[in-house]
Amino acid sequence: MTKKLFIKTYGCQMNVYDSARMADVLAPLGYEQADSAAAADLVLLNTCHIREKASEKVFSELGRLARAKRERAAEGRTLMVGVAGCVAQAEGAEILRRAPVVDVVVGPQAYHRLADMIAAAEAGGPARGKGVAPNAARLDTDFPAESKFAALPAESAARGPAAFLTIQEGCDKFCSFCVVPYTRGAEFSRPPADIEEEARRLVGLGARELTLLGQNVNAYRGAGADGPVGLGALIARLARLAGLARLRYTTSHPGDVAADQIAAHRDVAALMPHLHLPVQSGSDRVLAAMNRRHTADEYRETVARVRRARPDIAVSSDFIVGFPGETDADFEATLALVREIGFAQAYSFKYSPRPGTPAADKSERVEEAAKTERLRRLQDLLVEQQLAYNRGFVGGTVEVLLDRRGAHPGQLIGRSPYMQAVHVAAPAELFGTVVPVHVLSAHANSLAGALVDNGAKRVNQRVEPSAARSDLARTDKTMGGYTG
Ligand code: 5AD
Ligand code: SF4
Repeated sequence: MTKKLFIKTYGCQMNVYDSARMADVLAPLGYEQADSAAAADLVLLNTCHIREKASEKVFSELGRLARAKRERAAEGRTLMVGVAGCVAQAEGAEILRRAPVVDVVVGPQAYHRLADMIAAAEAGGPARGKGVAPNAARLDTDFPAESKFAALPAESAARGPAAFLTIQEGCDKFCSFCVVPYTRGAEFSRPPADIEEEARRLVGLGARELTLLGQNVNAYRGAGADGPVGLGALIARLARLAGLARLRYTTSHPGDVAADQIAAHRDVAALMPHLHLPVQSGSDRVLAAMNRRHTADEYRETVARVRRARPDIAVSSDFIVGFPGETDADFEATLALVREIGFAQAYSFKYSPRPGTPAADKSERVEEAAKTERLRRLQDLLVEQQLAYNRGFVGGTVEVLLDRRGAHPGQLIGRSPYMQAVHVAAPAELFGTVVPVHVLSAHANSLAGALVDNGAKRVNQRVEPSAARSDLARTDKTMGGYTG
């Protein structure tokens, strides 16, 4: 019997990847994907805990699902609800207490055990009443010794021209504001052979571009047959895969940018000229309080080294304003750094205290009004830079991998090598191909253009980025690179 599954994904690209994996794991139980919660027998929320608003959204969605479940019960039908992701990991027991609608809670390291949990929940019927003590059958937030990656089924729900592939997970950096080391656990790198096999599978399913994912992806150190393999060597190896046109990776930590990573940007044609390198602040005092382990000058020097290797590289970043103790002078140092570097794209956030992180206990809070004002000033500057950057492409040509259908009929959307979204009128048969696009206009978040030669001649060829010279999360436009 087929049953319908709807997964709502919040947050970063790794959650998008994990959602596809969860769909894979549940397929053997007879679950097929539905387009909406209304059409589903099982709804999974794959949650994000990085900032306050991200987890608030989960509880309001659970309220809606509780109403839907009651309505169905009145009609003699059932609805099963699961919570996965980083809110599940951080607040699993609390979720079961606060939201009796929830049948199962599963943390990011236990997804390979999800099918067993769902099967058990199906056998036991819907969630029990309020105040039920959480038990192992409904809550799995372990960090099991066996790797969830080993249990991937051969079939995959992840289809499409641009696919994600997790190569590294977890973080040992412990930036003082960040929940990731607690929700995703310690750094773990998948073996290169496993990654290559999955890459081959994704290419077989139609992927032309792979984005290698990790919270701290440039700390990647996989166990290869002849010793440890770093990110640069892994990229070189994957770039040889037949049928793969493009590689990307995210997110990098400035302290872990290594010579082989930089060299890959010079030497590997398939590696796209974009580097997401979160800096968070331009003040050394704040960087130290954040436990970022580098100074503003070290960041400048790293960007300069990358640009020497690949002069046209697009650099994007993440920023936090209003970190505890941040003064006006600290904030001015951030603006100065932004002016100097010139970012192609960036995400910026007000500091949000995360329970259990060291910074949440600091007493020197920045006033909300000051946070708002600083965020506005920073975003004004970043948008101005982004617009100027995009305008530099007007009149030139960019290679675009058409990987989404546009809102208008006859329109396709894709990414330039530099991560810009590019809108273009194109026939549907060009979907999934790399085509040269003549850029006609630029906005802060996208370019618009027309096919060169109707795209016909160069379809499916690997094309070098042209002489001209980034929203990373597909689920939540305000997400940011999320780590690194
Ligand atoms: N408050 C505000 N922003 C945060 N980020 C991570 N933790 C917090 C927090 N507690 C931001 C960082 C990170 C991005 C993904 O989210 O800028 O790079
Ligand atoms: Fe790790 Fe990035 Fe979080 Fe720092 S911000 S702890 S590097 S995931």
